[in-house]
Amino acid sequence: MPERIAIVLAAGEGTRMASNTPKVLHRIGGRTLLAHVLDAVRGAGIGRVAVVLGPDRDDVAAEVRRTTPESEVFVQHDRRGTAHAVLAARKTIERGGDVLIVYGDTPLLRSETLRELIEAANDNAVAVLGFRPADPAGYGRLLVQDGELVAIREERDANSEEKKVDLCNAGAMALSGKHALALLDRVKDDNAKREFYLTDVVALARADKLKSVVREATEEEVMGVNDKPQLAAAEAALQNRLREQAMKAGATLVAPETVHFAADTRLARDVVVEPYVVFGPGVVVEEGAVIRSFSHLEGAHVGAGASVGPYARLRPGTKLGPKARIGNFVETKAAEIGAGAKANHLTYLGDATVGANANVGAGTITCNYDGIDKFKTEIGDGAFVGSNSALVAPVKIGDGAYVASGSVITGNVPPNALGVGRARQVNKEGWADDFRAHKGKKGAGGHD
Ligand code: UD1
Ligand code: CA
Repeated sequence: MPERIAIVLAAGEGTRMASNTPKVLHRIGGRTLLAHVLDAVRGAGIGRVAVVLGPDRDDVAAEVRRTTPESEVFVQHDRRGTAHAVLAARKTIERGGDVLIVYGDTPLLRSETLRELIEAANDNAVAVLGFRPADPAGYGRLLVQDGELVAIREERDANSEEKKVDLCNAGAMALSGKHALALLDRVKDDNAKREFYLTDVVALARADKLKSVVREATEEEVMGVNDKPQLAAAEAALQNRLREQAMKAGATLVAPETVHFAADTRLARDVVVEPYVVFGPGVVVEEGAVIRSFSHLEGAHVGAGASVGPYARLRPGTKLGPKARIGNFVETKAAEIGAGAKANHLTYLGDATVGANANVGAGTITCNYDGIDKFKTEIGDGAFVGSNSALVAPVKIGDGAYVASGSVITGNVPPNALGVGRARQVNKEGWADDFRAHKGKKGAGGHD
C-alpha cells in the first residue's frame, strides 16, 4: 500500500494578526502553530508530508525544515482557493496514497482524530472533519442525507435552509488515494468567491457514486487562529490540555490554572509544582522533584528529588543532579549541578559545573563573560564557596576546597585548600572617636 500523505495548507492568510510574523509562525506552548500541526500529522503515522506556502515565505519554509526536515515544500503562487492550494502539491499526490488535508492554523488537532479521518477515507472516498460551533456563521455547512455527506455548502453560497444546518466543516479532510486527483482536477471556480473550493469534492464524489462521510470533533479541537484574541484562546485551551496530561502522568499541580507549560514539558510521577511556575521549551523534571512558586525554567533537566525555587531561573543547558537544591533568586545557565549540591540564595552560575554535595554560598557569582568570550568555572565535589564570592572564569575550585567569603577568585584553588582573594581586614583602634571629634558635635549616627 502506498504511503499516506498529509498536505498542510499555509498559503494565503487573513491579515488580522496585525503582525510582521506570518500567522503560522505564531506560537502557543512555545511552539509555532505550524509545528503543532506537523506534530499532530506525524503522530497520526503519516509518512509523507507536504506543506503549501505562499510566495516569498522563506521564514515559513525554514520552520518546516527545522521541525520536519523530511517534509516537502510547495508554493501556491496565486491564492485561488483551497483546492487550488492542494493541487500545488500535485507531485506528492501523484505518487499515490490516501491524502489528509489540514490547515496550518489549527494547532489543537489531535493525532487520533487525524488518524481516524484518513482511515475513514480509505473505506470511502472522502472523509470530512465536522463540528458543531456555537456560532456557525462563516463556516461551510455539511449537508447530510440518510447518514451520507452529500455536499458542503460555503456560507456565501448557501440558501436560508442550508444556513440553518449547525454541522460545519472544520477544514480537515481526507481523500482516498484512488480518487484524489480525479476529484481535485474537476473542481471549478463557479461560486460566489470565484475560488477553487476543496469542499466541492464531496458533490463531485457523489456524482461518481462515491461515498463521503463525516467524523465529528469538538469545537475546541478544530479551533483556528486568525487574530491575537484567538491565539490567546488557543493558548488557553492548550494549557488546559497540558495541565491535565501532567496531572494524569502523576505530577501534583497545587494550583494548575497558574502553571504555564511548553508543549514539550515532561514531568515525571510525584513531581510537585507549586503555584505560579512557567515552563519554557525543553524542560524535563524527574521523579519527586519540587518546583516552588515563581520559578521560570527553560531548556533544563531537573534530577529526581531536586528542589528549585521559589523564585529561581533555570536557563538552557541547566542540568540538576538528584537532590540538588537551587534556591531563591538563583540563576543558572549551561550549568551542571551535581547530586546533592546546593546554591540556595542569590547566585549566578553560568558555564559552570558544580560537583556532588558542593555548597555554593549566598551571593556567589561566576564571572563567565569578558564582553567577548565566555569561560568555564569548575567547582569540585564537596567544595564550599563562601558567600559573596566572585569566581572569575576560567577557574577551578578543587574537590573539598574552601573559598573564603567575599573573595574574588582569579586563580585555581587546589583540592582541599582555602582560597582567599580579598584584602585582609584592618581595625584602627579609636578611629571613630577621632572622626567625630574632627567633625564637631554631630554623632556619626546622625542624631543631634
Ligand atoms: C474554509 C472552508 C470552509 C470551512 C472553513 C473552516 C473551503 C472552500 N472552505 O473556509 O468550508 O468551514 O475553512 O475554517 O475550503 N488557503 C490556501 N490557499 C488558498 C486559500 C486558502 O493555502 O488559496 C489556506 C489558508 O491559509 C487557510 C485554509 O486554506 O489555512 C482555509 O482558507 P480560508 O480562506 O480561511 O477558508 P474559509 O473561507 O475560512
Ligand atoms: Ca478560515
